[in-house]
Amino acid sequence: MDRLRIQGGRPLHGEVTVSGAKNAALPILCASLLTSDTITLDNVPELRDIGTTLALLGRMGVVSQRGPDGRVSLCAADVHSQEAPYDLVKTMRASILVLGPLLARFGHARVSLPGGCAIGQRPVDQHIKGLAAMGAQIHIEHGFVVAHAKRLHGASILTDMVTVTGTENLMMAAVLADGRTTLENAACEPEIVDLAELLIAMGARIQGHGSDRIIIDGVERLHGATHQIIPDRIEAGTFLCAVAATGGEITLRQVAPNTMGAILDKLREAGLQIECGPDWIRATMHGRPRATGFRTSEYPGFPTDMQAQLMALNTLASGTAIITENIFENRYMHVQELQRMGAEIDINGHTAIVIGTESLSGATVMATDLRASASLVIAGLAAQGETTVERIYHLDRGYERMEAKLQALGARIQRIQ
Ligand code: UD1
Repeated sequence: MDRLRIQGGRPLHGEVTVSGAKNAALPILCASLLTSDTITLDNVPELRDIGTTLALLGRMGVVSQRGPDGRVSLCAADVHSQEAPYDLVKTMRASILVLGPLLARFGHARVSLPGGCAIGQRPVDQHIKGLAAMGAQIHIEHGFVVAHAKRLHGASILTDMVTVTGTENLMMAAVLADGRTTLENAACEPEIVDLAELLIAMGARIQGHGSDRIIIDGVERLHGATHQIIPDRIEAGTFLCAVAATGGEITLRQVAPNTMGAILDKLREAGLQIECGPDWIRATMHGRPRATGFRTSEYPGFPTDMQAQLMALNTLASGTAIITENIFENRYMHVQELQRMGAEIDINGHTAIVIGTESLSGATVMATDLRASASLVIAGLAAQGETTVERIYHLDRGYERMEAKLQALGARIQRIQ
């Protein structure tokens, strides 16, 4: 199993090009199931989760091709299976995103239930509730969600909570349904907007994406389209946390600062000097960060996917930060590993109290999930001495060539195979 070895204590300097957003690319790849025409995507990151999704679609009969510069084309003209098997779904919960498109286009789907997950229960009851409201017959059989519908019909759907992939699944189902669907309490994340824009380019009729009320008027069929995936705001935020922890000056290219409001606000509060253009961010850090408490929430609030990274920064800050995780019930698994590096953190239910220390000391630590891994890399870059981050396959799920990008910024980081 690969690991990362980091010699900490070096400031970061230079430029990084931000990759396409994983969480935008995953639903968009699944949207290719909605048409028999070719979908061409640009800026698709090369990540393990993308590979898993292409493998899943491939098993169904979707033909995909990767070109240079993150171009991927997909054609779902000859789909021969509407099943998502457990061996692929268990490695990536986002596989549930094939459910809506399969049901909408083919009238049936059999998708393995994702099961437990390191960062919490993460059920899919809202996906099922919404599809049932659109007329699907759905039941659970041998660990699979089995769904049938001759043709889905429009419905007014209010989800019990804001769910990102739930909103995406229902939006993809509604675009081919008969009549109007209204999604209330919809997620507003930029990745939802990106998916809606692809669907509109394919001929879908959608209004209100980016707000909590999305209105979709179903059409008979969708056609091919070309689309560019938005930049990854979480990858960008991770690099900004890294420079805030190590000091130095970095410039991010091909980034979308307008999707990063809450992240940039918090990092400014921590002392990072930030200048932005339409597609670039320059960040400079002098001295020690200031403690910055925050609560995770749905967009446009502070994203749960940045909680671990900003916590890592807070372990080095002057002062005490109070952090509350409101989205997932078990998303503090990085805490024990950060403590092994000398961090002072107390957990009380959903709240973490982080008392900043002058310095962390390098240690061997274990990555437990994607964003936890990123927080350990940040801590390792800032710590004194050597840190080894084990089980970095988690990192490879969501960060494209992270160690190469950090090396280009002057970090001493190496992948050990
Ligand atoms: C997506 C993101 C993930 C991010 C999360 C929250 C993708 C591929 N993944 O995950 O990176 O951390 O949003 O921003 O985009 N819930 C239910 N029932 C449901 C659906 C959700 O109870 O049917 C709960 C979840 O357990 C969680 C909360 O709702 O507590 C939000 O989850 P959700 O937004 O659905 O997360 P994902 O879409 O899985």
